[in-house]
Amino acid sequence: MAHKPVLLKEVLELLNLRPGITAVDATLGGGGHAVEIMKQISPAGHLIGLDQDPQALERSRPRFDPASCRVDLVHENFRNLPKALSRLNIPGVDAVLLDIGFSSDQLEDSQRGFSFDREGPLDMRMNPDSETTAADLVNGLPEKELADLIYTYGEEHRSRRIARVLCERRQTARFETTQDLAGTLENLHGGPVRKKSVKRHFPGKRHPATRVFQALRIAVNDELEALREGLEGSWSCLNRGGRLGVISFHSLEDRIVKRTFLRWKAEGAGTVVTKKPVTPDEAELNENPRARSAKLRVMEKS
Ligand SMILES: C[S@@+](CC[C@H](N)C(=O)[O-])C[C@H]1O[C@@H](n2cnc3c(N)ncnc32)[C@H](O)[C@@H]1O
Repeated sequence: MAHKPVLLKEVLELLNLRPGITAVDATLGGGGHAVEIMKQISPAGHLIGLDQDPQALERSRPRFDPASCRVDLVHENFRNLPKALSRLNIPGVDAVLLDIGFSSDQLEDSQRGFSFDREGPLDMRMNPDSETTAADLVNGLPEKELADLIYTYGEEHRSRRIARVLCERRQTARFETTQDLAGTLENLHGGPVRKKSVKRHFPGKRHPATRVFQALRIAVNDELEALREGLEGSWSCLNRGGRLGVISFHSLEDRIVKRTFLRWKAEGAGTVVTKKPVTPDEAELNENPRARSAKLRVMEKS
């Protein structure tokens, strides 16, 4: 199923989009938000779309052909937004959207290794040019570092036990696939489970691999540091009156966004447009359960 843009109408309203402005979608993905942003800023506007995943760029490129305003699509990590804009000779922008995390397209492609539900290589790199895969971390990190990673990025309280079991197992055979790792984690939680449907085996509960997979994905893609740098870089590129909107999907990310916005506010650099984070309404949740944990925060530069 193609990726559905989350909180779309709220993003369009709160980013204060209007014809003629320059807007950045720094997480282009399937282009769901970007196409609608393009319509709002056309015909004289300029849209810049970034993604660190070249497959996302190729998949969404046809959606901008023909484009209703100037569009530049760039393969780049949003932590390097200032550099990307300077390469395009753009001195400042009026709106930036960060819709962080991974897309349904990435999750559903078994060869990317994001899903514990699909057999695939234990990869999880959003940018295939980057060096470290999830398999490198699971097979290579010392036990304590692996436990710390699972605890910090997965908020998993059983991290020490999990790391011990993974390190014991890898002495006999490397972890190479998603199902291999997911199976080992299931066994740790009360015996082997033949998995047809996660929901059937763990009714009302998280799958035991959820937090470990989240932790590995965050580490492989250096997601939290990229977010910190991406926020600072986006803010530095905004024109006065410009708006930065961030959609996050878990508390680790949302905490960073919230604290950064409060710091900028305290420094007198801008106003927080969303006093509380905006969350999806019932209608959106019914249509797109993946939107469940989404939170949108928007700040305006003064
Ligand atoms: C949730 S999806 C965005 C979906 C998009 N808004 C849409 O409507 O189709 C997140 C996208 O951001 C990309 N991404 C995540 N972190 C990134 C980063 N640090 N720099 C650039 N792209 C990133 C991912 O590769 C993925 O394609």
